[in-house]
Amino acid sequence: MDLKFSRALVTGGAGFIGSHLVDGLLSKGCQVSVIDDLSTGRLSNLGNNKDHITFYRADIRDQHILEKAAKQCDIIFHQAAVVSVPRTVDNPVDSAMVNEMGTLFVLEAARKNNVKRVVLASSSAVYGDDPVLPKHENMNPKPQSPYAVQKLSGEFYARLYHDLYGVESVSLRYFNVYGPRQDPSSPYSGVISIFMERASSKEPPVIYGNGNQYRDFIFVKDVVRFNLMVADSDKVSGKIFNVGTGRFIRINRLWEMIIKLSGKNIKPVYEAPRPGDIIESVADIDRAGKTLGFKPDYSFEKGLEETFKYYLTTNEHLKLDTDEHR
Ligand code: NAD
Ligand code: UD1
Repeated sequence: MDLKFSRALVTGGAGFIGSHLVDGLLSKGCQVSVIDDLSTGRLSNLGNNKDHITFYRADIRDQHILEKAAKQCDIIFHQAAVVSVPRTVDNPVDSAMVNEMGTLFVLEAARKNNVKRVVLASSSAVYGDDPVLPKHENMNPKPQSPYAVQKLSGEFYARLYHDLYGVESVSLRYFNVYGPRQDPSSPYSGVISIFMERASSKEPPVIYGNGNQYRDFIFVKDVVRFNLMVADSDKVSGKIFNVGTGRFIRINRLWEMIIKLSGKNIKPVYEAPRPGDIIESVADIDRAGKTLGFKPDYSFEKGLEETFKYYLTTNEHLKLDTDEHR
């Protein structure tokens, strides 16, 4: 795939998804800039790419730096955010400053500097617990956490900037993204990274609720491919897309699959459900298929194995145990 643009800005580019996006853009020969305040991201995620990009260690709300970076690009991939649902439940105002105002600043920098397109990382969280499944883009959103409201507000602003100012915006409702570099170090981290860490430290994982809740997990490399297809398409401006697989995995089953890979036998501990947690989440991916011809390359089994291998190389303890097991 040759891209129609050559200069990209990735906000949150030192994070999990953002750093994979930087890999993808550089491999296509793009000139890449990153703005990241390293609040949850790490410079090490960028590896040697650091030497081939322009890196701004800054908050996206620093309009001076944002404008400077926007001037040098044709497209912005906006990934920077407070990502954890429970973190936004604990800090609704601070998180809104980043997720709502930060997104508005990004769109405004695009408008003022004639950036052609902005691709926003939105979330399946906007659907809430609507009983209609799978979730499709035409459903009425039912946000049930500050995070979901904030992401929805970003989508509305994106549409406005498209309609009022001609900024070609596209909102991508990522379902649950997983893969190498997802940071497991906080209770606010994504479930797959936490479970990988628990399997390695031999500590039982905590499952919130009865573990029958489910998610549509999509591998990060498929998410990058989706972003690149959207960035290059002339059929997406002003639109919203689900980014998922159409398949779901229950949290209990997820733990079983991870302990099978690790060769351990650890029973989970069950705790009360998290406030704001969604029970059932799975994507209808028809629109992405019809508009872009997208379908995921990675089965869940293949993606989980690739992710597990990553945790093996970053965690010697897990490696030893697995070697003994095999
Ligand atoms: P991440 O925490 O690894 O990445 C977010 C990055 O943004 C980090 O590098 C962080 O340092 C940076 N950041 C945060 N606040 C910032 C600020 N004010 N200024 C500058 N940089 C800031 O998380 P991720 O999983 O890679 O998420 C990327 C995007 O995808 C987010 O917008 C998130 O809401 C969205 N998303 C993620 C998932 C998922 O399952 N991981 C699902 C749906 C949507
Ligand atoms: C995740 C993303 C969010 C994104 C949303 C899209 C992270 C941190 N959050 O939120 O940005 O918009 O997907 O759907 O990447 N769980 C446990 N034990 C744990 C951790 C989690 O049982 O130790 C459960 C949770 O209660 C939840 C499920 O696993 O039911 C998934 O949790 P989590 O990985 O935090 O993701 P979401 O809340 O879905």
